[in-house]
Amino acid sequence: MELPEELQFITHARMPQKTTKARMDGRVCIITGATSGVGYQATKRLAQGGAHLVLVCRNREKSIKLKLELTNGNGTQIDLIQADLSKLSDVRQAAGYILEHYPHIDVLINNAGLHNTRRILTNDGFETVFCVNHLASYLLTRLLLERLIESAPVRVIQVNSQGHRFGGLDLDDLHWAKRHYNGYKAYGASKVAQLLTVWEFSEKLGENGVTINAMHPGEVRTNIGMNNGILYRTYQRYLLWWILKQPVISGNAIYYQAAAPEMAGISGRFFNQTIDEKPAPHALDRNLGKRVWSISEELTGLSGHA
Ligand SMILES: NC(=O)c1ccc[n+]([C@@H]2O[C@H](COP(=O)([O-])OP(=O)(O)OC[C@H]3O[C@@H](n4cnc5c(N)ncnc54)[C@H](OP(=O)(O)O)[C@@H]3O)[C@@H](O)[C@H]2O)c1
Repeated sequence: MELPEELQFITHARMPQKTTKARMDGRVCIITGATSGVGYQATKRLAQGGAHLVLVCRNREKSIKLKLELTNGNGTQIDLIQADLSKLSDVRQAAGYILEHYPHIDVLINNAGLHNTRRILTNDGFETVFCVNHLASYLLTRLLLERLIESAPVRVIQVNSQGHRFGGLDLDDLHWAKRHYNGYKAYGASKVAQLLTVWEFSEKLGENGVTINAMHPGEVRTNIGMNNGILYRTYQRYLLWWILKQPVISGNAIYYQAAAPEMAGISGRFFNQTIDEKPAPHALDRNLGKRVWSISEELTGLSGHA
């Protein structure tokens, strides 16, 4: 029995995923949040594929350890950039460093993300999940845009989530000052905002050889949510854990998105790992997307820039 379109993500999650044997030798791949879970697995897989990795991570010790682990015994080139993506000033610094040191970029993977059970504001006054999951990825992509266009063909991969189906985006209350904070809805809101901007980015990038897609990396065992209280951590480790898959599948899916020849030229899509999928209707509202784009521009200080 075929499930209705809005439930097909359940079927897709059980389907065999696509893989590629294509290599990434010397290709410059920038990835955020490489020190754990999905990002760690993607980084490992890209290193196996020969990519030149630029890791944007907040924790220096963890990223040095990761670099040592991945360079051990092979010629993998790994560069580290430290940035806390809950600070837009760090995002700007990271982008500045990238523009200064990398005349050519092949792949940008905005992966870093989190889930909070309570409302925490960043120093800039943004709700943290909205800031890290959406604003930081939006700003980094915008700041690198010209370099990406010059480097075409380039692939931008937004690690999104089925959590966008939770909804929760309220443009009049992006930072949850007026509503009771709901961690799932706040997570959903950040992912809806990111998805809505993917369609806008894709349209603006048009024919210039930069593709941008969003992907759900699978329901996998990672550290997401483990920054929350003991109740949530217990729920995650002892109940949720058993239904979650190994995050190696996410690393493979991101590698496919980055490397597969058949992904060349494909843009403005949402993938359930590697399977093209229709997102929730509220994440397809282009009018809402245009408003999210201009609000994101304003919040990240980009208003008035090309
Ligand atoms: N796990 C799943 O089932 C699942 C499902 C759907 C979507 N996703 C998405 O997958 C992505 C990766 O999540 P994950 O599951 O791999 O979680 P994770 O194991 O907690 O990894 C998250 C990564 O993001 C980094 N990060 C978090 N906040 C940051 C900040 N303020 N500045 C810089 N880096 C920051 C973390 O750094 P530290 O190592 O320093 O903590 C870590 O490297 C997220 O976008 C998430 O929404 C995951």
